[in-house]
Amino acid sequence: MSHIPTKLEVAAGLPLPAAQTLAGRFLVQPHSTLASDQEYARVMQDLHFGVDFSDYMASSVWTSDRGWADKELVPFGPLTLSPAASVLHYGQEVFEGLKAYRREDGSIWTFRPRFNAERFNHSARRLALPELPVEDFIASIVDLVAADGRWVPKQEGASLYLRPFMFASEPFLGVKPAHEITYLLIASPVGPYFAKGFGPVSIYVTREYHRAGLGGTGDAKTSGNYAASLLPQQIAYDQGYEQVCFLDSATSTNVDELGGMNVFVVYRDGVVRTPKLTGAILEGGTRSAIIQICEDKGIVVEESSINFDQLLEDIRAGVVTEVFACGTAAVITPVGKLGGDFGEVTLELGQVTRDLYDTLTGIQWGTVEDTHNWCYRIA
Ligand code: COI
Repeated sequence: MSHIPTKLEVAAGLPLPAAQTLAGRFLVQPHSTLASDQEYARVMQDLHFGVDFSDYMASSVWTSDRGWADKELVPFGPLTLSPAASVLHYGQEVFEGLKAYRREDGSIWTFRPRFNAERFNHSARRLALPELPVEDFIASIVDLVAADGRWVPKQEGASLYLRPFMFASEPFLGVKPAHEITYLLIASPVGPYFAKGFGPVSIYVTREYHRAGLGGTGDAKTSGNYAASLLPQQIAYDQGYEQVCFLDSATSTNVDELGGMNVFVVYRDGVVRTPKLTGAILEGGTRSAIIQICEDKGIVVEESSINFDQLLEDIRAGVVTEVFACGTAAVITPVGKLGGDFGEVTLELGQVTRDLYDTLTGIQWGTVEDTHNWCYRIA
């Protein structure tokens, strides 16, 4: 059966106004400390993930009486925040991650920004935060990239990672939704998420810890989910693995996702499976694109429960030939090793993973036809 579009995918497919008609909503404020040419060159010739930042950030503040106001581009820098700001105590925060890509002809594009804008609001609703109008979300990207265009890298495979987020900035210790919320968009010129680039990662599978439970916040992109992944992630590092994989919290038997990435499994018979969306899993934009690309290529994709012990047996028997992780930051990353209380199994980088990677990145960089209108020109 072919994939039935989710609510988020349907909303993400609605048209967006052209970037020029959204530009100018965030007013550029004076900046007296732009990165020097020397500092700029230092950053751009040695790109890491999320370490260095562009000159500006977009900001807006919401209050119950004014709504979203004070839309500005201000110098990237430290915030003034009350130590009583609600987010510091109760974690009322949501975020997104998307990228701006510079193409051969110099134009700058993003990939399915409406997916991120709609998911941002889906997450906001779950965290009792106000929604940000989709057009403001996109406008903040258009305006930031216009001001910070030099930070969109020219090197192949590099991009400007965009991190929109909103948080409860009201100084108040009562446990209730805040009345003052701050929206910020910051940007970081990045190379690959994993320093070694497109190569196999090793994954530690934890049965002891879970990332999220049913009815919790697992399908919202909120800081608490990532906080919950850090101790098991640390345990994974300590045992020599790069990432942690979580099983479902109800039964500890089915694969959910990694700390910040969805998972796909490729079977010898050509079928591709990914864990179905249970409410505890984040609905990834890259996950969604991969499902569509598989369908376009005539590959059968099943969204189902993936029993972990069965998966192990299938890898050992050669029934499963490839496993890969995916996300905006990680793009498509082959899994080379799974370890845990069962010992270890290894996998090769296979042709399906490589082919999906080439197609997805080709669409993002404009070298493969964008038949679904996923790319949105911002400059
Ligand atoms: C992304 O892929 O953009 C993410 O948000 C994952 C991670 C870096 C938190």
